[in-house]
Parts: sequence; structure tokens; C-alpha cells
Amino acid sequence: MVGCQSILATGRPWVVQLAVAVVAAILGANESSMHRVTVFPSPESQGVCATSVTIHGYKCEEFDVVTQDGYILRIQRLPMGRMGIGSRGNRQPVIIQHGVLVDGMTWLLNSPEQNLPMILSDNGFDVWITNTRGTRFSRRHQFLDPSQPKFWDWSWDELVMYDLPAVFNFVYDRSGNRKIHYVGHSMGTLMVLASLSEGRLVDKLKSVALLSPIAYLSHMTTALGVVAAKSFVGEATTLFGIGEFNPKGEPVGQFLKLLCAQPGVDCYDLLTALTGNNCCLNSTTVDLFLQNEPQPTSTKNMVHLAQTVRDRRLTKYNYGIPVFNLLIYGDLAPPPYDLSNIPKDMPMFVSYGGRDALSDPRDVQALLDSLKLHDVDKLSVQFVEDYAHADYIMGVNAKDVVYSQVLSFFTKIPS
Ligand SMILES: *[C@@H]1O[C@H](CO)[C@@H](O)[C@H](O)[C@H]1NC(C)=O
Ligand SMILES: *[C@@H]1O[C@H](CO)[C@@H](O)[C@H](O)[C@H]1NC(C)=O
Repeated sequence: MVGCQSILATGRPWVVQLAVAVVAAILGANESSMHRVTVFPSPESQGVCATSVTIHGYKCEEFDVVTQDGYILRIQRLPMGRMGIGSRGNRQPVIIQHGVLVDGMTWLLNSPEQNLPMILSDNGFDVWITNTRGTRFSRRHQFLDPSQPKFWDWSWDELVMYDLPAVFNFVYDRSGNRKIHYVGHSMGTLMVLASLSEGRLVDKLKSVALLSPIAYLSHMTTALGVVAAKSFVGEATTLFGIGEFNPKGEPVGQFLKLLCAQPGVDCYDLLTALTGNNCCLNSTTVDLFLQNEPQPTSTKNMVHLAQTVRDRRLTKYNYGIPVFNLLIYGDLAPPPYDLSNIPKDMPMFVSYGGRDALSDPRDVQALLDSLKLHDVDKLSVQFVEDYAHADYIMGVNAKDVVYSQVLSFFTKIPS
């Protein structure tokens, strides 16, 4: 935590501080890890299916889905199990949604025996992997270009309003109008919770599995949380200065290097500081992760997530100046997302880790409290004492500890 304190003390604009904290934490950066060179085939040139799925003997299809506000999202589908085991068709669809600053590739980094999409595929599911707007395969728009600030004028409100509905409609059509299971990690949980609280997706969702759920963030004990809470001043400027938040960008990278070279700054500790003390990461997988992530998002999205930390409640994006909120929402304050509106009979599985510093157990308790009127037989909760945030996607034992539970949760729901 000493490292975090010195980041806080730099007096840089908060957005930059946030960028540094996040990047350092996500990269688990130290000089050695930043310069490590291992050559993996590049998904940028060949696509995710070719580099990460078909090489393991799975069929894989890529589609473009257009959102109502014009973004073109790439999604991947594993329509059948390894070596074509199990027929195509008559499979229950599952949508798998990643968190912030990463893309759908994160699910595929562990070996085929260990990663969630392939496990689900081998167990008879029709698996669909999303890539949120702004990440490398979803940086297209019908009229806008990523070089234009307007391209980045969105937060997770828009992911709720446009990205998820577009993907759900697409998958629903392709699977003969079958209801869809959903797995979300981190921001992917926030997206579906917010959707359900507004009555969205309800008619197309079969069940929801939430890994490292994020809804309330007030107990977050991380660099990100502290930074966001302490130095929050940027809202009004983002109204005019919206743009891309690119963790791999030159300015952030340069600053990060400088920072990590300073005496007393232990960037390795930042990984722990942000995501918690992950118990079970595989170094080969972490190498792959460093090659593929982090991915860009919008500055506005980062601001919105930080607002959630600061305000201790879940609302739409706050423009900071009441009159702007009035113009956009017809109210001086942004409208809340009320999680008690989530349909009581929606089957839900929640798994959270005792060492997760982003999805703090106390905040998960607050989430569970807001679901206290949920039908008891429709809500199952798993607590994994030694798990932190990244263990849920890269843990060597996630298959046995978590994915097996997800699988049995899905399997128990009558089709
Ligand atoms: C960072 O450095 C330490 C010691 O120098 C090393 O043990 C650790 O594996 C490195 N972290 C990463 C993520 O490479
Ligand atoms: C780590 O990942 C590699 C590559 O996917 C895999 O071959 C290996 O079995 C994994 N190690 C453990 C302990 O699971």
C-alpha cells in the first residue's frame, strides 16, 4: 500500500492518477514484466477464433452486431464442443461478458480444460463471447471513427442501453428464440444488474451468473478506489473533454515507467492493491494476459465507475452540474438504478472472493441485502475465501472451484 500512497501524493490530475493506478494494477507491472517478450500469435491480425479457439479443436464463428447507436461489435461463438462433439443446435445459449479494461479474450487465456467458454461448450452449451465497444475488435461505428471524441461519449449506461440488448437480440434470433444464460465478471455483472433493475432483457434471460459482482463499491480498499474518491474533480470537464481512455497509450505508458522506476514505488504490489491477493494465477496465462490486455474504454466510463465509488449508490452518469443533469434526465440528480426491481424469480448465482479488493465482501453483502426479497430457491451464493478478482478468469483451479458451480447452476434450471 506504500506504493499507492506515493501515487496519490503526486498531485497529478485525477484522471491520470486513475489511469496509472489501473494500468499498473492490471499489468501487475514492474520493469521485468513490462519488458518480458514471449511471442504469441496476434489476434489482431488473425482474429480471436483462429488464434485462440480453432487451434484447440473447437469450431468458432465471428459475427458483427450493430447497436442501436451505431457501434459495430465483434462477438465470437463456440457452437459445439471439442472436435465437434455434441451436435449443433438444440443447445442452450450462454452469453459471457467480460469486465472493464479487458475484452472477450480474457476468458480464453487459460488452457481449454481450464477456461470457461470451452468448459461450457464441452458440456453442451452454445457459447457466445462479447467484446464491449471500444475494445480492439469493437472499435467500429457506422458513422464515427475512434479518433473522434464523439466515438467515446458513453459510459456503462450505454452498455446497458445498447450493447447488451444488441447482443441479446442477435443471439436470441440465432438460437431459435431460446432464453439465454448469462455469465458476467466484474463490470459485466454491473451491466446485467442495472439492465434487470430497469426491466431490460428480462424476457430473454434464463439465468444470471455473477462472478466478482460489482454494484456497490464503497468499501473498495484499492488504489483505484482511494484515488477516485480522493481526487474527484473531473466530471464537468469530461462533458467537454470526453475521449478515449487508453491504458496502453504513450502518455500513460511513459508516466507509468517513470513512476515504477521511482524508489519506494512497488508496482507489483499494485496488482494486489487493486484486484486483491489473487491466490491462483498461472504465469503462462499472465504472460498471455499481458500480451492481450488491457484494452481501452472511454474516459466517461471510468468517471462513471469512479462516481459509483464516491457516491455509494448506483445511478446513471452524473454530469456534475445540476443543470446538465436536468437537460439530459429532466432532473437535477441522475436517476438511480434500483436493484430491488430485479425480478424476484430470476435464477441467480453469485460467487465472490474473500480476498477481492475490487469487489469487497462488504459491498457484495450490500448487493445481497438489496436482493433479500429474492425467491430463496432462485438465488445461490458461493463464497471463495482465498479468491481475488483475477482468479475468477485466470485461476488455475477456477474450473473446479467456480466453473463447476456455474455449470451445475445452469444445468439445474429446467430448459
Ligand atoms: C515483479 O518483480 C518481482 C521481483 O523483482 C518478481 O518476483 C515478480 O514475479 C514480478 N512480477 C511480475 C508480474 O512479473
Ligand atoms: C498453466 O497454463 C499452461 C498453458 O495453458 C498449461 O499448460 C498448464 O497446465 C497450466 N498450469 C497449471 C498449474 O494449471
